Amino acid sequence: MPQEGPAPSKPPRIILGIGGGIAAYKSAELARLLVQRGYSVQPVMTESATRFITPLTLASLTHSKVITGLFASPEDASATLSSAIEHIDVALEHDILVVAPATANLLAQFAQGLASDFLTTTHLAFTGPVLLAPAMNTNMWNHPATQANLNLLASRGYHFVGPDAGDLACGMVGPGRLADPAAIADAVTALWNRKRDLEGETILITAGPTQEAIDPVRVIANRSSGKMGYAIAEKAAARGARVILVSGPVAIPAPPGVELVRVESAEQMKNAVLQHLEPASIFVSVAAVADYRPANPADQKIKKTASLLSIELEPTTDILAEVGRNKGDRLVIGFAAETQNLAAEGKRKLESKNCDMVVANRVGPDGTGFEGDDNEVLLITRNKEPKPVPRASKREIAGHILDAITDLRLSRKAAEL
Ligand code: CTP
Repeated sequence: MPQEGPAPSKPPRIILGIGGGIAAYKSAELARLLVQRGYSVQPVMTESATRFITPLTLASLTHSKVITGLFASPEDASATLSSAIEHIDVALEHDILVVAPATANLLAQFAQGLASDFLTTTHLAFTGPVLLAPAMNTNMWNHPATQANLNLLASRGYHFVGPDAGDLACGMVGPGRLADPAAIADAVTALWNRKRDLEGETILITAGPTQEAIDPVRVIANRSSGKMGYAIAEKAAARGARVILVSGPVAIPAPPGVELVRVESAEQMKNAVLQHLEPASIFVSVAAVADYRPANPADQKIKKTASLLSIELEPTTDILAEVGRNKGDRLVIGFAAETQNLAAEGKRKLESKNCDMVVANRVGPDGTGFEGDDNEVLLITRNKEPKPVPRASKREIAGHILDAITDLRLSRKAAEL
């Protein structure tokens, strides 16, 4: 699967999507360059792309069967079924989706999540990075609808190369010309290398809630779903890191390729963290660890009475602060779940727990930021203005957090030189 990433020595497997524009002929040169770099290339052409360049040209250059349209043979029911499933296989078996030329129509379809043919359907099923090389007439490029689609796709983390400005096939001069195939191939290589930027790192992540026993059947817990920590684990593994995920009880599956250590209480989480800390070059404390636990959990189930019941609570160990105290040259990243004063509280926790970065997020009484699929965070580092990351899926936010972590790592390496 794209999230897992292939073995480091393996070259990337590219889906080359080709849209129907005059620049489609340049996709042949792009295919040639990608193959020359040792990449495996699966061309997927829209119906109209086949009018500008023949599938045979692409097949000859890539030594792959070229996929066009959606269904192999409309009269053949079994072929229809297998082709309908094939787009999922194509999506799962490749690492990067490159679309060149990405026409105005394709950009609109991608932005809207339409699935009208093999390419747009594969795009929807694909979870890896997408690189778009737009090409179109200048007026189409400048149209507010196209610009809005581009902005939307950019905010979702799509990557772009071009378009260049210059003489267009339609006779106009301006932006809209497909980027040079060599520049597109370079962008693919940069994307692939970037995606492996955590190779050699071991990341220890805590995630989810903890449960503190009141008696054998009752616990004190919180609303954390684990989604944010699991998303970071998934993305870090995809970017080449060894990931050890210490998780409290959650309802979501462990990401592929991640070493999962299940715990329940804050005490168990602390022990698991200390046990796995040694190889970790990066510690990311996402878990919503209970600050207090019942001081004297009952051995037997507490029986109901008419009177008030008090439970005496004692503080738990602050795992993040403990790791921060003995951090060595490890990068330590904390989270700050706040209902108010995000920046100030995040900064305070950055200092008090000796972190290199604190990711502050707002939690609401309804569980926003805890249970939802989206998040909106503030990245707080030393000597820099806090960086807001606007609302996005937790997977996308995870990518931004890992980018910030690699930036911290790079600036530390630069300072050492
Ligand atoms: N944390 C931890 N161990 C604890 C409590 C918190 O490792 N016993 C970590 C969390 O994983 C998070 C950071 O500390 O990375 C901040 O957690 P948060 O609950 O926001 O802050 P607290 O320090 O508990 O402070 P408060 O609850 O007063 O806001």
